Amino acid sequence: AHQWRGVIREYIDRLDISSDNPVITLGEGGTPLVEAPALAKLVGAERVLLKVEGMNPTGSFKDRGMTMAVSKAVGHGAQAVIAASTGNTSASAAAYAAAAGIQSVVLVPKGKISLGKLSQAVAHKSQILQVKGNFDDCLDLARALSENYPVHLVNSVNPDRIEGQKTGAFEVVDSLGFAPDFHVLPVGNAGNYTAYSKGYQEDVQAGRIKSMPKMWGFQAEGSAPFSFGNPVKKPDTIATAIRIGNPASYDLALAAREASGGQFGFVSDKEILWMHRFLSNEAGVFVEPSSATGAAGLFKHSKKGEVPAGSTIVVTVTGHGLKDPMWALKDERGKGIKPQAVPNRVEAVAERLGLSKK
Ligand code: F0G
Repeated sequence: AHQWRGVIREYIDRLDISSDNPVITLGEGGTPLVEAPALAKLVGAERVLLKVEGMNPTGSFKDRGMTMAVSKAVGHGAQAVIAASTGNTSASAAAYAAAAGIQSVVLVPKGKISLGKLSQAVAHKSQILQVKGNFDDCLDLARALSENYPVHLVNSVNPDRIEGQKTGAFEVVDSLGFAPDFHVLPVGNAGNYTAYSKGYQEDVQAGRIKSMPKMWGFQAEGSAPFSFGNPVKKPDTIATAIRIGNPASYDLALAAREASGGQFGFVSDKEILWMHRFLSNEAGVFVEPSSATGAAGLFKHSKKGEVPAGSTIVVTVTGHGLKDPMWALKDERGKGIKPQAVPNRVEAVAERLGLSKK
């Protein structure tokens, strides 16, 4: 039986990496494209499919880019990689560095990354530094360090990351057999938005699809520089993964939007959390809050009449719900949800469930 070999080996002829470069892989990619009829009904589309990136080895889409970035770092003889991160990049960099047998250093905003993500970086013996500042400050530091010291930068300003992440678009086209009408995703640094656009553009050039999907990218309202047209000094949102005010791939993403006739928009934290619950309640797909931002934006714009009835839409859900599980344990009003306690007796449990004997 065929086992998925990771994105480098599966797409070696479409990636910028030589065949004799070492391959550091944890089997990333090959993630499910899940039909979500409840979401299709909600937004009035013919089909909505979720590209479930939480199924990657470290639980987010970052692994697609990290296999490329770390493999090439090793190919260049790097002994250490460095990344600024809101959590997922650090988890991924730490895991791939561990697999490669090299050191990783991660710079994270103090107090603003989820426990699940922090635990991954610790588990993979990364050197973790909490910076008194936000993600944008961390990225400035990481860039300056990599320019002046012998550490290899693996943030998405490194084109190897974008190169690896474009395989998400290849997989969508390979499994659908055509391009969707719209591709929707959450946006922070806009690296992934840029990467999917690149993948689809290459599919057009190679004749695998006729035209690109319209690329729709959504940010959190308090961190939405693409909507406001300039950097946000003090980005804020409960969606910590995309709490970014000065996107690294700003210009590339603007060009990508032009190329597809797409758009950027924003949603409130309340809309993000509503969709976070909808996806787990109605689609069976548990994502971290940031990952629900794309679907939340799709819903918002569907209410403005922007989703044609016959559309096929792919929504990338970027990270696993277990990364940041505390949000599932709160109700709409933010009140804690606790499972009921019951006595260890069948009759008592049946009574609590409101069941009468058959
Ligand atoms: N969704 C999740 C779960 C993320 O972790 C990120 C980015 C994004 C969406 C946005 O992707 O930056 O390519 O536009 N997380 C980065 C990190 C910043 O450090 O893990 P983007």
